[in-house]
Amino acid sequence: MTTTLFHLSDIHFGLEDNKALDWVKQEIAERRPAAVAITGDLTMRARHREYSAACSWIRSLDVPVTVEIGNHDMPYFNLIERFFAPYRRFRNIESLIERTIDLPDIAIVPLKTAVRMQPRLNWSKGWVSRSALRQCLAAIDALPAGTKALVAVHHPLREVGTKGTALTYNGFKALCALAKRPVLAVLSGHVHDPFDIMEETLDGPVRMIGAGTLSLRLRSTPPSFNELTWDGTTLTVRARNLDEVPTRSMQIDDVPENALPPREPGEPVAPVNQVPRTDPPVH
Ligand SMILES: [Fe+2]
Ligand SMILES: [Fe+2]
Repeated sequence: MTTTLFHLSDIHFGLEDNKALDWVKQEIAERRPAAVAITGDLTMRARHREYSAACSWIRSLDVPVTVEIGNHDMPYFNLIERFFAPYRRFRNIESLIERTIDLPDIAIVPLKTAVRMQPRLNWSKGWVSRSALRQCLAAIDALPAGTKALVAVHHPLREVGTKGTALTYNGFKALCALAKRPVLAVLSGHVHDPFDIMEETLDGPVRMIGAGTLSLRLRSTPPSFNELTWDGTTLTVRARNLDEVPTRSMQIDDVPENALPPREPGEPVAPVNQVPRTDPPVH
């Protein structure tokens, strides 16, 4: 039996690409994936109207949906709320979209990587807290025997350099712990370009799959989402896009470590095969 999942990310309601979203909605209606996993940055600035638009769109999909919190999904303008109730707006919509997900031998397990504040200048980067990792590992360990986990995060679990420059602090520690468990792949967003790479850890390799964006904040590839197919043995990824760029051309070869401003909305996307693959801007 084959299971199809759609992996969406970085819709950034407030700066969403409505043409791409109409297409994805139609694809969901036609293909009826077993679930849609959205890996964060649902909104642009966590405004109430952006959350409301996100909620309407998600509720119009007639399939189960999971959503992770991204660095853009915590209050941006209201700092008091950001510090004291950072997840309230997100949790409100999470409760509205909740539906039971019943997958045969796989499970989507969340791991929170976005935090309200951190002891470094760039708060848009990821941070895996001890309690977030503990919750994720406990959820994996509680799965029925034979069930494989798809771990859903916002930031790729890439950690290089120092505490200040790492894309996701404690990402490597998390990957090592996941490598020891039945994890099919880690699904992420944040980068705005798709990828599918094997990350080596001290405890074996872990597959990291990134979805592109469905917003106007493009980096180096057109708007896209990942179609995942699981046949019980192999997980196949297609980076679906309206321009019909082949998956291999859509996927970047490595996860960039810098978080620089993305391409401005409206600026044309360079043809994918001409995109420089070194040190491009990410969001
Ligand atoms: Fe984003
Ligand atoms: Fe992000």
